[in-house]
Amino acid sequence: MSRLPASPFVTSILAGRVALVTGGGSGIGFEVARQLGLHGAKIIIMGRRKSFLEKAVGLLAQEAVQATWVQGDVRQPEDADKAVEKAVHDFGSLSILVNAAAGNFLVAGEDLSTKGFRTVMEIDTVGSFNMSRAAFKALKVAPEGGLIINISATLHYGATWYQTHASAAKAAVDSLTRSLGLEWGSFGIRVVGIAPGPIADTPGMAKLAPTNDSSAVDELVAELIPLGRMGTKTDIALAAVFLCSSAGGFITGETLVVDGGHWLFKPQM
Ligand code: HXC
Repeated sequence: MSRLPASPFVTSILAGRVALVTGGGSGIGFEVARQLGLHGAKIIIMGRRKSFLEKAVGLLAQEAVQATWVQGDVRQPEDADKAVEKAVHDFGSLSILVNAAAGNFLVAGEDLSTKGFRTVMEIDTVGSFNMSRAAFKALKVAPEGGLIINISATLHYGATWYQTHASAAKAAVDSLTRSLGLEWGSFGIRVVGIAPGPIADTPGMAKLAPTNDSSAVDELVAELIPLGRMGTKTDIALAAVFLCSSAGGFITGETLVVDGGHWLFKPQM
């Protein structure tokens, strides 16, 4: 039997905090936004598709999460500035930035166009940088300090088939986490990452393991994961709540792997 997580945290743990979540309209980004909201933070989600954003904010409202949205593309510096301005305007401050916006698709290296490679680098890496720089001024004056969480991956710890672009992009994201963690610590800003493994029921899994037989996928993946089950969006979101809380207050520059041991896997000799 798989054991799914419930929140061990008191629901007021993030009261008074304001979180901007890119890619917050769906997938991991939405669940991170939801859990931060359920633990007391005010939420602003950013994404490219208005219909997703409106639906997501509607769902958050049903759970009494105070949330709003801003349409924008993290690749555009002016959209990044606009999102931060809206957060501060609507909620008075910005204390948490979650860079969850990402792009990905499966393609063999020899078939990957320069534009395809550049597109994923620009969404994942340049986008995370744009958002971080835009948020800097607000984060450094945030009550209780500022925090950036970069949603990364484990693709680049070794190498992953057909993921040349996303692996390069996430390796660079981890480097951003360390560099900005180093430079911005003295401003009271922590910069951390979360590296999910395979997470059920996400746009990423739908793209990377496209099949109609979800039980076959679950079975296959469970064999490769020491903890014996697929990850859930809530696994990632509760790791984010921990990192936002004072329990994570001395962690910066580090990327926390939340993958049930997946990337450690090697066949038995
Ligand atoms: C080959 C592809 C392709 C594919 C796009 N491209 N899809 N190449 N195979 N399946 C190429 C295009 O041909 C084009 O290059 C270039 O990429 C840009 O494509 P556009 O569609 O014009 O770009 P855009 O509209 O900006 O879309 C970006 C995107 C899109 C990444 C391609 O899929 C997207 O925005 N997705 C967002 C949601 C998403 O992907 N979520 C999953 C994240 S999963 P040419 O040269 O042909 O013009 C994730 C987790 C990783 O990050 C870890 C998993 C364990």
